[in-house]
Amino acid sequence: MHIAVIGSGYVGLPTACGLASFGNDVVCIDNNPEKLKVLQSGTIPLYEDGLQELYEKIKSNLTFTGDMSVIKDAELIILAVGTPMSDDGSANLEYIYQATQDIKPYLKSGTIVATKSTVPIGTNDEIERIINRTDVTVVSMPEFLREGYALQDFFNPDRIIIGTDNVDAYNKIKALYSPHIPAEKIIRTNRHSAELIKYASNAFLATKIHFINEISDLCEQIDADVADVAAGMGLDSRIGRKFLNAGIGYGGSCFPKDTNALEYMAKQHGVNLGLVSSTIKGNHDRRFNIANRINKYISEIGSDARVAVLGLAFKNGTDDIRYSPAIDIIKNICHTPIYVYDPRAMANSKKELKENVIFTETFADCIKDADIIVILTEWPDFKELENVEFNKKTLILDYRNILEESKMRKKANVEYKRIGQKL
Ligand SMILES: NC(=O)c1ccc[n+]([C@@H]2O[C@H](COP(=O)([O-])OP(=O)(O)OC[C@H]3O[C@@H](n4cnc5c(N)ncnc54)[C@H](O)[C@@H]3O)[C@@H](O)[C@H]2O)c1
Repeated sequence: MHIAVIGSGYVGLPTACGLASFGNDVVCIDNNPEKLKVLQSGTIPLYEDGLQELYEKIKSNLTFTGDMSVIKDAELIILAVGTPMSDDGSANLEYIYQATQDIKPYLKSGTIVATKSTVPIGTNDEIERIINRTDVTVVSMPEFLREGYALQDFFNPDRIIIGTDNVDAYNKIKALYSPHIPAEKIIRTNRHSAELIKYASNAFLATKIHFINEISDLCEQIDADVADVAAGMGLDSRIGRKFLNAGIGYGGSCFPKDTNALEYMAKQHGVNLGLVSSTIKGNHDRRFNIANRINKYISEIGSDARVAVLGLAFKNGTDDIRYSPAIDIIKNICHTPIYVYDPRAMANSKKELKENVIFTETFADCIKDADIIVILTEWPDFKELENVEFNKKTLILDYRNILEESKMRKKANVEYKRIGQKL
């Protein structure tokens, strides 16, 4: 199939590479000239496990361009442009509507336009109105991939939702995936349901994270351990263990903006999503609460404390720092300098963190001579701390609970604190 993917970002690139690996002829279009230059030189300009390697294998099926007219042969056009958060919490739809205007002159009869961008209920109706053609079908096809696992999720998705009343369009998209993905995972709904499935899923997962963080706060007051509580809860198959890791709150380009957009659109329809509102507020407050905790420990040690922060990305496996709690926490640590390190997110963070921060070359440079080490992203690399010998008194604040407690408690010169244990 001839496929065009509009937007070469965290969603567009894995999608384009994945579809090209199925043998399709894929063109990926982006309007960012700098990004395009890198892509056309053969480099994937973001970090996603295995993506560069996959691109090397399938590059004869995939081209990158900024020239929209190349979509004239495409039978399927996938919209994967950003829908960032506006100041009022709603989804900013300027890019999706601009992309719709951009493709409009080149659409051939019978083309399917599938929206993978996360868009509020009714956005695909508006895309259809802008295109204004009875021979073009607009489908909602929300994306559920997780950054850091994008290819794994592309090739083994939990589900593919195809939101359309047009059975022919559904069958064409299904045929694209069904040789590779079990048929029972491919579901047709109407467009509004498909749009809402995405928001409801993200809001549910965000709420689960916020819930365990609240339980974690209670654990800290009553001498319970949130890790044990989560393990015990998670064994209940109705609950499940995933997304029950207490920590510093969720971030990233999806949960914050999607919970806000859902709250906003529900209000527009006169519906109060109290649970979602409480999650948004609680998660926002959490990063400042964590910064205050760190400030308290630093003040106990003194103004000459050497402070090391491990982790800048919003989670492990990515270089993405959008709405990263680590970035906000660092901005709210009242100390200078703060030594920071992240295995992948240093370049992006240098644009965001300018004051009070020293970016170290290596993990070892970051923790060297530290009085306090704070873990803010759950990179497995930081488990190396379990093997480090500390020759001066060091406070380790493991705010992602990634280190093996029994090892850390035995370490000479180390005071080890985790999230969700008696303070
Ligand atoms: N990142 C994720 O993990 C994830 C997961 C599921 C869904 N989503 C959703 O997918 C959408 C894309 O997210 P992303 O993280 O890939 O965004 P991104 O910012 O990484 O990529 C978007 C790309 O679109 C390009 N673009 C914008 N307007 C364009 C136009 N008119 N023509 C051509 N290119 C254009 C930008 O230059 C950019 O490269 C969002 O709606 C997001 O909510 C993201």
